[in-house]
Amino acid sequence: MPIDLRSDTVTLPTPAMRQAMATAELGDDVIGEDPTVRALEADAARLLGKEAALFVPSGTFANQCALLTHCASGDEVVVSEQAHVVVHEAGAAALLARVQVRALAPANGRWPTAVEVARRIRVGDDIHLPRTGCVWLEQATSCGEIMPPVDLAAVARVAHRHKVPVHVDGARFLNAAVALDVDPARLAAPVDSLSLSLSKGLCAPVGSLLVGRSAFVDAARRNRKRMGGGMRQAGVIAAPGRVALADMVSRLAEDHANARLLAGLIGQIPGVVITREPAINMVFWRIDRERIDWNRLRARLASEGVLTYPPEDGEMRFVTHHPITEADVRAAALAVSRVIRTLR
Ligand SMILES: Cc1ncc(COP(=O)(O)O)c(C=O)c1O
Repeated sequence: MPIDLRSDTVTLPTPAMRQAMATAELGDDVIGEDPTVRALEADAARLLGKEAALFVPSGTFANQCALLTHCASGDEVVVSEQAHVVVHEAGAAALLARVQVRALAPANGRWPTAVEVARRIRVGDDIHLPRTGCVWLEQATSCGEIMPPVDLAAVARVAHRHKVPVHVDGARFLNAAVALDVDPARLAAPVDSLSLSLSKGLCAPVGSLLVGRSAFVDAARRNRKRMGGGMRQAGVIAAPGRVALADMVSRLAEDHANARLLAGLIGQIPGVVITREPAINMVFWRIDRERIDWNRLRARLASEGVLTYPPEDGEMRFVTHHPITEADVRAAALAVSRVIRTLR
């Protein structure tokens, strides 16, 4: 088995999840009759301390459905230029929600601050200006960073002062909660809505949840239908999601420890620079590009059984996840060291 450090999206359902799929109680969820989906939605709402939740097919779907629900078409979304919804959703915000993205470059290189957000919220009734439909944050960020809860609360305060809702793309929200050792509901308290992915570090095969107030989730349910995301006997895919929330959250700490170990080991290799200390399960690193051919490096690593995606902006990313072990991490670091040495 290769050590697959490409992404936590490659995780596979556990035996308990497969068993839950086989035995799930089912019904037609589009008319609200799938008991397993309903139970998953209730689990998620409870975990995040919100009134309601909606099961959707993917993180991208959850994000687009949130935009469509918070914003009218032509509204503006205040968001970091590094956010997944800006960079990695193929322009869906323009196509589906028909919003204008007001992308900002965070001065700290990591997340938007309250001051930066405040400056971009539109005020007044000038007909030339777009309306600010929502403020968009990530927790953890696409760059594997955790936005400090006080900063997140400060952004929410600013947005709410202007009656603008705040959405958190929480594809890895539970990674952040586990890393901070805080109750997810407390971490989610300042914001209006969140999306949460079941199919990354939590290992469920499919699905995300969109959570928030009942009125928001009711409106999102209609939008999910419009987007073609109403799923009939969806309990077969909701059942492993329930196992994910019940059994797989606390073990994310292992992935985080493995990421720290991996960063420590590869950081000792001459020429390797860890660009950010891992906060969750991601290790970002770079190396002198003049001396290294990334394609060869990736091919050599693959031949040693270590899989990676190509670098973005000269930065490599390794992601630790179930069932990668400490021994795998040590083996991967040795492979990186060997390969870099032979490529010189
Ligand atoms: C921060 C973030 N948001 C959203 C998504 C989209 O999730 P999906 O691949 O389920 O559409 C991802 C996927 O990696 C992500 O990292």
